[in-house]
Amino acid sequence: MLVLGIESSCDETAAALVREDGTVLADVVASQIAVHAPYGGVVPELASRAHLTNVLPVIEGALAEVDGGLDAVDAIAVTRGPGLVGALLVGVQAAKAIAWARDLPIVGVDHLIGHLFAVYLRRGEDDPPQPELPYVALLVSGGHTAIYEVTAPGEAVILGQTRDDAAGEAFDKVAKLLGLGYPGGPVVDRLAAKGDPRAIELPIPMSSRRTLDFSFSGLKTAVARHVEAHGVPTDEAAMADLCASFQRSVTRVLARKAVHACVQRGIPRLVLGGGVAANRGLRETARRLCAKHEVALFVPPLASCTDNAAMIAYAGAMRLAAGERDDLDLTAYSRSPDLRRGKFPKRRS
Ligand code: KG4
Ligand code: ZN
Repeated sequence: MLVLGIESSCDETAAALVREDGTVLADVVASQIAVHAPYGGVVPELASRAHLTNVLPVIEGALAEVDGGLDAVDAIAVTRGPGLVGALLVGVQAAKAIAWARDLPIVGVDHLIGHLFAVYLRRGEDDPPQPELPYVALLVSGGHTAIYEVTAPGEAVILGQTRDDAAGEAFDKVAKLLGLGYPGGPVVDRLAAKGDPRAIELPIPMSSRRTLDFSFSGLKTAVARHVEAHGVPTDEAAMADLCASFQRSVTRVLARKAVHACVQRGIPRLVLGGGVAANRGLRETARRLCAKHEVALFVPPLASCTDNAAMIAYAGAMRLAAGERDDLDLTAYSRSPDLRRGKFPKRRS
């Protein structure tokens, strides 16, 4: 079975072709970074318009990579939420139009479920090992920061989450404060590599192990206070020290709680996902703590961590394999519903 996946929840328009075993045949992503960079964050209306412009070329680009193009496709999977509703609707409408015209089955996919199973995508010979179920997943992106127990195909429960900003959002806001541009994560990461992480004392937000929840807004405020008192660093060494100190606070609390969740749940497998999984500080700290607690760490390749449609196609294939289908009245949602229906991430009581 070959599934066409379509993703448009935030600022990437993406299409991919994936087999039910996770083999990726095509994976096309059109980034809107240049559209939103002048504003230091994603502007929803501009995102919707850019999705409209990009969605068909991206789908055509993916289809051009397989023999037969659309004739080879057996089903369509599309992100239906969470995300910007105007943005999501572009992907959903494109998916419905193709499904209707070609009489193909369609399934809506929760974006977070997509991220949580992206570790099973197979991209080529250098594929890293894949975990068996269950595993703990730390999902850290610009829009989401949470720890999940991934229990079965397509199913997960949430163990803890941020109470305010997402980790990537904290990176982006601090970078904006320091005049480092958008998105801030990669720039802070690069500068942090040259700095002293102990140079500036910054709080470790909600560091208590009693909760697996996070909070990053206080840390952002602490950086703002530091800048108020000392000004934006003008030399590169001071800037590197500030970035390294900030990054240390964020990544330590993320890695500690994720590994603690593994220990607490008795699950010696941790998977990283989301754009912030690219962070070298986070990878290094997670590697160290996992080794110490005998937890196997799985870090998917970057193309599987950041927003992409291959993970949506694969999650869709899991739904299809379970005999699930949606109708053409499929709609988008901005937040994952509190599902007593049971398929989506929810808090373990
Ligand atoms: O998953 P993603 O591509 O998109 C969503 O937010 O869904 O993640 C983007 C986020 C941005 O906030 C970006 O600043 C952050 O991931 N990011 C990083 C790094 N690379 C990307 N944060 C820290 N260090 C990085 N190397
Ligand atoms: Zn995402």
